[in-house]
Amino acid sequence: MPHRYGNIVGWGKYVPARVITNDELAQRLDTSDEWITTRTGIRERRVVGPGETTSGMAVAAARDALTMAGVRPRDLDLIIVATSSPDYLTPPVSSQVQHALGAKDVGAFTLVVGCPGFVYALVTAQQFIASGACDNVLVIGVEVISRFLNWNDRATCVLFGDGAGAVVLEASDQPCGVLSHVLGSDGSGAQHLILPSGGAALPPSAETLAQGLNYIHMNGHEVFRFATRILGRALRQAIAQAGLTPDDIDLFIPHQANARIIESAARQAGLPPEKVFLNIHCYGNTSAASIPIALCEAIEQGRARIGDMLAFVAFGAGLTWAAAVVKLAARPAPLPADRWPTRLRKWITQAASPVARLANRRVEK
Ligand code: ACO
Repeated sequence: MPHRYGNIVGWGKYVPARVITNDELAQRLDTSDEWITTRTGIRERRVVGPGETTSGMAVAAARDALTMAGVRPRDLDLIIVATSSPDYLTPPVSSQVQHALGAKDVGAFTLVVGCPGFVYALVTAQQFIASGACDNVLVIGVEVISRFLNWNDRATCVLFGDGAGAVVLEASDQPCGVLSHVLGSDGSGAQHLILPSGGAALPPSAETLAQGLNYIHMNGHEVFRFATRILGRALRQAIAQAGLTPDDIDLFIPHQANARIIESAARQAGLPPEKVFLNIHCYGNTSAASIPIALCEAIEQGRARIGDMLAFVAFGAGLTWAAAVVKLAARPAPLPADRWPTRLRKWITQAASPVARLANRRVEK
């Protein structure tokens, strides 16, 4: 079978309307706009309002991506939702999204890998397309982290935000989409970024609630050290695996966790600041949603164009990391009828085909 690639042919994003600025946080926490901006690059973040859900945001982003791709939900072969903040532990949020989209009977699963979840999901989708199992795959990164934050803990609540981003991948025989990838995990660092209660290990109880174990706990210093150690290396590996050099990368779209971490990764990978896409100041760390939201905005702003070679990198809970080199490509022009595959041409012209029957009926009339 010839090599098949997953071309990104549609993209969409959704962010909640509610904006929380650093100044607003500083009114009720011992923090300041100056501290948050200089340490992280974040100026404001979006947070869901009552009634807004992970599945609802995912569906909104997915609808935009599908409309742009011109792909009907029922024509999808697979839906992958990357998130660490699903509506429920069970059922999987991917099935809620599949149902709400009207993607009848389409396979769907949720992938939980913290912030690199979207890159993991994109790489997974690429494998389904390369194997010939799927032609059209919807990949979504979505998070409602605000509901898992202790809004009195200045060390975590200032960092995160909510949002969703989605892409539609379509099979192509042109080299495009994910050209190379690096996936990594080091579970020895699990305790550095953890939501202790809510899973099977520590079910919620009055005690866990009293101890605040239903909130994200993070050792920011250790996570920072890990990220600055791993990201530059993962990026360099992905670029080399694609047979490229940093000069070949048109735009670097990193996970938007901390501007200083991004700067360090870009420097280590030999990518100059003008090739780095940043929107962390608007949204903070939206975990698995951060790269697809940034991708959408980079395209909307003309920073990423058809033909461009992009580099993604992300890190997060696990601890985990992922990097990928992704090429944006135009869709091939439709084949002229005389070059349609022989079987398709025969089917259309044979008397037994519905198209031929319809044509014959018209002639008979
Ligand atoms: N405002 C004011 N002071 C603060 C705040 C705040 N919001 N938060 C922490 N501080 C204080 C600390 O208490 C500490 O005070 P102390 O020295 O009196 O103890 C001081 O600031 C310095 O803390 P550091 O940890 O040294 O600050 P640092 O420069 O490392 O920045 C930060 C902290 C921003 C959290 C950084 O460590 C970081 O970004 N780490 C990575 C976090 C991250 O990206 N996590 C997401 C991973 S992805 C995922 O899967 C969700």
